[in-house]
Amino acid sequence: MSPATRVLLGVTGGIAAYKSAELVRGLRARGCEVQVVMTPGAKEFLGAATLQALSGRQVRDDLWDEAAEAAMGHIELARWADVVLVAPATAQCIARLALGLADDLLSTLCLATDAPIYLAPAMNRLMWANPATQANCATLTSRGITLLGPGVGDQACGETGPGRMLEPAELIAAILDAGSRSTLLAGKTVMITAGPTREPIDPVRYLTNRSSGKMGFAIAQAALRAGARVRLVCGPVNLPTPAGVERIDIETAEQLHAAVHEHLAGCHVFIAAAAVADYRPEHCPDRKIKKTDEKMTLCLQRAPDTLASVAALEQRPFTVGFAAETHEVEHYARQKLEKKRLDMIVANRVGEGLAFDTDDNELVVLWPDDGREVFARAAKAKLADELIALIAGRLGSQSAESAT
Ligand code: CTP
Repeated sequence: MSPATRVLLGVTGGIAAYKSAELVRGLRARGCEVQVVMTPGAKEFLGAATLQALSGRQVRDDLWDEAAEAAMGHIELARWADVVLVAPATAQCIARLALGLADDLLSTLCLATDAPIYLAPAMNRLMWANPATQANCATLTSRGITLLGPGVGDQACGETGPGRMLEPAELIAAILDAGSRSTLLAGKTVMITAGPTREPIDPVRYLTNRSSGKMGFAIAQAALRAGARVRLVCGPVNLPTPAGVERIDIETAEQLHAAVHEHLAGCHVFIAAAAVADYRPEHCPDRKIKKTDEKMTLCLQRAPDTLASVAALEQRPFTVGFAAETHEVEHYARQKLEKKRLDMIVANRVGEGLAFDTDDNELVVLWPDDGREVFARAAKAKLADELIALIAGRLGSQSAESAT
């Protein structure tokens, strides 16, 4: 996007409105022109004078302000914008946009613009999880509006969970880097699992593996770049959440299983990139296990296979698995593809410094009927883009087949 991007920044009435000042400053620092539009609720949280001074433009807040309308009418303002960012976007604002209301300045502008619209939801976690809000978000994303976040963490109301507005820097990067987006997965929702799981042995010890989550996170970013709505279910990893991704944190295989099935409704694609434990300790005592002079035996039981369970659903998304193998990579990968009845499997060689916690990878992708494509060693971000393009293509031909 050119440096003189014109950003129409909608600010609605949530506590995160205090971050708008930093947003305006950051956008101006990146060379953008910023026109702030506040709702009446936003003005309960923040004075217009600060945003006016930082943006260098009069803050607009009223559809019926004759003087402001005479200077630039609302339709003209809607045309002026290269991009619309509503941050924070409250549950109320999201509901109003989903309904297509046009009874205040911001909602009217959102209806009247053909610029891309980004919403940065910010609300209490239960308001976010409420089916009404989720349905409104699904409506908006199906119309091509992009949700950035929310993030997960401590909330102003004292609770913890999804609902925090993303940080201004993340929002700015997301909207200004959007020029490199495609529409391959526009209107689609993609769920990705990533990272390792931890299976507790006792309150201080656990079983885990070497997965860093980098491949899953790269796929999440690639799916976002392709215009999808992305849900990322991830184990403990040391990676920042890509702006715009809905992240659900889990620790154990069982929690991953529950989170995936809880959030699977409405997903068109499921990509299982997590390195999930196949076994977990049968018992986890509530006290630390003390060592003795004897040999110790740890009794393990099977953990649920989430990928297989998703693939077995009657109404299932396009289901993609991963196979990390040290030997006979393709042979074992095809076995997994067939046994779990997947639509596609992505295989890679692991061990001896390969794949885990590295920034590049080398992949073979297999699908039923002997389909096969090899991706030579490359950065995980590049491979992720190629994988997403392949998935979008297969998804397209699958829906074309089922339509005939
Ligand atoms: N997977 C899963 N749930 C599990 C285990 C694995 O969803 N409990 C998914 C992984 O995310 C990956 C694929 O299944 O996409 C890996 O298949 P799997 O047969 O479990 O591979 P390995 O654990 O490597 O098993 P094996 O010992 O048979 O090679």
